[in-house]
Amino acid sequence: MVLKIAQITDTHLFADRKTAMRGLVTWDSLGTVVAEVQAWNPDILLLTGDLAHRGEPQAYQHLIERIAPLHLPTYYIPGNHDELDILNQQFQNSPFLGDKVLQRQGWQVLLLDSTLATAQSGEGYLSEAQLEALEQSLTACSKPTVLVLHHHPVPMGIDWLDTIGVQNNQAFLDYLTRFPQVKLVLFGHVHLEFEEQYQGIQFYGTPSTCKQVLRDGASEQEAYPGFRGLRLFEDGTYQTEVIRSYPR
Ligand SMILES: [Fe+2]
Repeated sequence: MVLKIAQITDTHLFADRKTAMRGLVTWDSLGTVVAEVQAWNPDILLLTGDLAHRGEPQAYQHLIERIAPLHLPTYYIPGNHDELDILNQQFQNSPFLGDKVLQRQGWQVLLLDSTLATAQSGEGYLSEAQLEALEQSLTACSKPTVLVLHHHPVPMGIDWLDTIGVQNNQAFLDYLTRFPQVKLVLFGHVHLEFEEQYQGIQFYGTPSTCKQVLRDGASEQEAYPGFRGLRLFEDGTYQTEVIRSYPR
């Protein structure tokens, strides 16, 4: 048996569906990604922040409309662009589930809120409350674990981007060394595909469903919208891949 999780991130929707962000209409590009998610046929959907660019209620309604055809149990965390109160209000009903701790298929999946109310330019932070909740979950359950947050807790090697990651990332990384069951960490925010191992944990950045951040020398394909697929197997192993939607 396998649990298939799709991670959709940084949809940056607007109240007006026709609004473009850096030249791309985010409603349209999300539609192409949702079609790919549907074809991939996951069991669960994770939405990992920056769902609405300006936090408008209508933007969240547009997101609900876009993902409705998937009929998937949907879990979510906010990003720096979201308005948490509005998001929570809009996501009260099916298919949304408010749980931040999931135990399925011999695995534990923990969703963390890395947003910082006083952020100046979109940077993140893991509060004492978030770390305490994490500690409780990891102490209570030693199953292989996936951590999910919006901001990147490891450097991307891109100067401006690395000023807006998790500000207390070193404390977080040191803390994780106490919990060897943590196998992988998923994040969004960076708008690019990323993979790196640090202290025995795999860190995965997932492209946005809209505009990407391109490194020097990036391929044409790296500019395309995408999502991450993650397969969790009962024996504690996993596979993950980024699936892009290609322009038609
Ligand atoms: Fe973000």
